[in-house]
Amino acid sequence: MLPARKQELAKMSNNVYIRGLGHHVPEKILTNRDLEKIVDTNDDWITSRTGISSRHIVDGQTCVDLAYESSMKALQNAGMEPDELTHILVATFTGDMPVPATACLLMERMGIRNKAAMDVAAACSGFVYGLEVARALIALHPDAKILVCGSEIVTSRVNWEDRSTCVLFGDGAGAAVVTGEKNGDKNGELLDVMVSADGGIGMALTVKGGGSAASYSLGEKVGDEYFIQMQGREIYKHAVRNMSSICKKLLERHGYTSEDVDVLLPHQANQRIIEAVGKKLSIPVERVFANVDRFGNTSAASIPIALSEARENGFIKDGNLVLVTTFGGGLTWGASLIQY
Ligand code: UT7
Repeated sequence: MLPARKQELAKMSNNVYIRGLGHHVPEKILTNRDLEKIVDTNDDWITSRTGISSRHIVDGQTCVDLAYESSMKALQNAGMEPDELTHILVATFTGDMPVPATACLLMERMGIRNKAAMDVAAACSGFVYGLEVARALIALHPDAKILVCGSEIVTSRVNWEDRSTCVLFGDGAGAAVVTGEKNGDKNGELLDVMVSADGGIGMALTVKGGGSAASYSLGEKVGDEYFIQMQGREIYKHAVRNMSSICKKLLERHGYTSEDVDVLLPHQANQRIIEAVGKKLSIPVERVFANVDRFGNTSAASIPIALSEARENGFIKDGNLVLVTTFGGGLTWGASLIQY
């Protein structure tokens, strides 16, 4: 007779499921016309260069507030109670505070205790990195029930005087419940995840201020390095190149071609980037999901918001093979295959 732990490990399976999804955005909407009053820009420039028309922004809510709303919806969608969770992961670069982690604050908000909880720091790619961590946890602990949430108040790190960045971002949260066993036939099977990074080009997209390399003295005025600084063109090129190449590698690993992909769901940063990735992968625009027009770039929340919305509105149907791809600061990027 094997000891209990060995028996548990012997049960180990590679099957990982997305059992529930949920998303939440703050009510307040900031349109391109509103931005015209704040900074020297115009609706035509923003729409033609980015595809963004409006974005949701907070009005007093914090990162954990949005994380909580999206997580409770994901749990409800999974038919689970918070206390059933074993692990809580929150992908964010705009947590309520550096310590405690937003995952710990979320646990407290959900009224549960004694679970593993940590934040994932991979900027916009954080949710897909979180899915990879969840897969690894389930390989070690087959009974794990993991909440992977992406929650961002990106506008807290936006310089409203910098027109090249402030028009791009929005706030929001999305969450997934990931388990080693399915519940009913509506779950997505998380077939695979691939993630990567290149720190050599990381300085093209930064939020430096407040880190230990740019720490503040008491009473010092906050400078523009406290906010998102970005070499837009450079990031654009890397985003298209890295998202399309990692998608090709992931498809190849499974013997799939673009023809097999029913839905391509890329990081929602810019409509032109979304379309360029679709084109490089030869996936027609009708099969590419986009909601960047209404949400802007919500960083780590972008993929789970898109997944949750696409599943809710029927863009992703039962039986669909979904190819997710992400890109962000670090630079980091990744892809995932989900079979519905
Ligand atoms: O999550 C990942 C993070 N970020 C991204 O994915 C962003 C990737 N990059 C992009 O999406 C694009 O590079 C941007 C949307 C940021 C910029 O588009 P672009 O076509 O690369 O424009 P650009 O930066 O080359 O700027 C073109 C012009 C400049 O004027 P000049 O030098 O040609 O006279 C800018 O000053 O547009 C000007 N400009 C603006 N004009 C009106 C820059 N921002 C604005 C603005 N309104 N908001």
